[in-house]
Amino acid sequence: MPETKKENHITEVIENVKVSEGVWHITVKAPKLAQAAKPGQFVQVLVEGAGLLLRRPLGIAGADAEQGTVELFYRVLGKGTAKLTGYRAGDSLSILGPLGHGFDTSAGNVLIVGGGMGLAPTKFLAERLEHCEALLGGRNAGELFWTKYYEPATEAMHITTDDGSMGTKGFTVAVLPELLATGKYDRVAVCGPEIMMKKTFEICREQGVPCEVSLEKRMACGLGACLSCNIDSTDGRRLHVCQDGPVFRGEEVFA
Ligand SMILES: Cc1cc2nc3c(=O)[nH]c(=O)nc-3n(C[C@H](O)[C@H](O)[C@H](O)COP(=O)(O)OP(=O)(O)OC[C@H]3O[C@@H](n4cnc5c(N)ncnc54)[C@H](O)[C@@H]3O)c2cc1C
Ligand code: FES
Repeated sequence: MPETKKENHITEVIENVKVSEGVWHITVKAPKLAQAAKPGQFVQVLVEGAGLLLRRPLGIAGADAEQGTVELFYRVLGKGTAKLTGYRAGDSLSILGPLGHGFDTSAGNVLIVGGGMGLAPTKFLAERLEHCEALLGGRNAGELFWTKYYEPATEAMHITTDDGSMGTKGFTVAVLPELLATGKYDRVAVCGPEIMMKKTFEICREQGVPCEVSLEKRMACGLGACLSCNIDSTDGRRLHVCQDGPVFRGEEVFA
């Protein structure tokens, strides 16, 4: 796959709003980034004033080339994401990207499987695919505020919650075999907790459906220049998640 140009963009914040408990949605004006971004790629955000040396990686959740805007969702975890909530419309935000390799966006009917903040990059994927359905999982209905973003971009949504407050009670991977057995899907794209991605890949392998997974590792440079995000592939290659991924074919990274 040809490399997209990695560049630092001094963007202007358009909106930065809380969308759920501890989760924020930020939209920035970044015309060149919006043109270049592909689903599954990420950016490195420089949060100023938090005393941080390292940028924070966030998956690209949407890019509108006509409007020149890029969307990100972030969960407030530590210093960087907490400080990011203080950015207001008109502020400048330095964003490096687009980084890494994204999902396959070629023709076909894709089942997107996601949970937690993994639903941010797969939202962008849903928006770029011609045919897709989504299997969304969360602990409870409150965590599934994502449905309003997926509804316009998907042909059907399948929902699970751990507590049964929305959709089917249980995990996404409990529903997955039945969905795949319909034979409707050409491939699966998954992003969420690692255990969910591994299980999703195993079920896909059993049913002969190709599966892409989007890994999340602690990162420093985000450019393939340090060792922070190294993993070993199943065939013994040393991979940089930031550069070779974060999206991989499941069989490359899960045995
Ligand atoms: C490729 C990639 C894409 C990502 N996309 C998103 C996204 O779209 N939305 C989003 O909310 N988050 C995303 N993350 C995670 C996000 O980068 C971290 O939550 C963020 O950097 C935390 O920064 P902080 O300064 O607030 O917290 P820190 O002070 O750095 O950390 C707070 C706590 O979170 C833990 N932590 C921080 N980062 C990670 C991580 N990557 N994996 C596991 N534990 C971690 C730390 O160990 C610490 O306990 C992504 C990470 C990667 C690598
Ligand atoms: S974060 Fe430095 S090589 Fe990946």
